[in-house]
Amino acid sequence: MAGTAATTAPTGTAPATGELIRFDGVTKRFGANTVLDSLDFTVDPGKHVTLIGPSGSGKTTILRLLMTLTRPDEGTITVDGQYLCHEEKNGGLVPAGEKHVREVRKNIGMVFQQFNLFPNMKVLRNITEAPVHVLGMSQDEADERARGLLDLVGLGDRCDAYPSQLSGGQQQRVAIARALAMRPKVLLLDEVTSALDPELVAGVLDVLRDIAHTTDITMLCVTHEMNFARDISDCVLMFDEGKVIESGHPDKIFTEPENERTRDFLSAVL
Ligand SMILES: Nc1ncnc2c1ncn2[C@@H]1O[C@H](COP(=O)(O)OP(=O)(O)OP(=O)(O)O)[C@@H](O)[C@H]1O
Ligand SMILES: [Mg+2]
Repeated sequence: MAGTAATTAPTGTAPATGELIRFDGVTKRFGANTVLDSLDFTVDPGKHVTLIGPSGSGKTTILRLLMTLTRPDEGTITVDGQYLCHEEKNGGLVPAGEKHVREVRKNIGMVFQQFNLFPNMKVLRNITEAPVHVLGMSQDEADERARGLLDLVGLGDRCDAYPSQLSGGQQQRVAIARALAMRPKVLLLDEVTSALDPELVAGVLDVLRDIAHTTDITMLCVTHEMNFARDISDCVLMFDEGKVIESGHPDKIFTEPENERTRDFLSAVL
């Protein structure tokens, strides 16, 4: 279960814990703006954790840190027991080299608000490209797995389409299949339905519900779809001003939040 965790100073050895993701005292600043302020939280394997909070509270920044699209100013991030942005050297921690980062990041897949499919490649190849070129999978195996994943997202008959021939909802389902094709341990989802026409949202959320309920993948999800969050989450983390101000089971957070800022936020979005 996710929750707050005690801050520990980086000392060289990644803490031996069961968590899949661990943020320890993570601070991220953009100029004078402290976006994450000594943030601690953990996500256990197989759990579905949802981040909620006001616009600008740092939710996307957390996911971007996990994708190593940006680096923390202070603190450490651990993924499956390995430091993400640090390496151990002479009993201490130093910034990790690109090879180390690439290895640890293989555990993580992300689906963005904008689907970012390769427009010049057919659907099947959009999904097989990274498994073949990054994981070294044979084309036959990658094709077979991609077809299975397209069935999972309800697009088994669209292997030969180009992205521009699909609706936004279909493109987003391809993007979900593409992320899963890399066999990540954790799937990051950042407002994946917010760029879609309203009538396409339900289909994408149904696919994600299905994945949440039928696979053991860990999910870290940012969404404004509160009913969806309630359905799939084991834990909801409420962020404000760079910190987790409240966390717990969705039944608790959505019905009897303890923090006044959580109450205000939920009354504005529900
Ligand atoms: N590359 C950047 N350069 C400067 N400031 C940034 C950068 N990325 C994010 N920020 C700032 O960090 C803060 C947190 O942004 P972030 O995108 O993480 O918020 P968010 O919680 O995802 O918001 P939203 O709900 O609107 O998506 C904002 O104040 C934003 O302006
Ligand atoms: Mg965001």
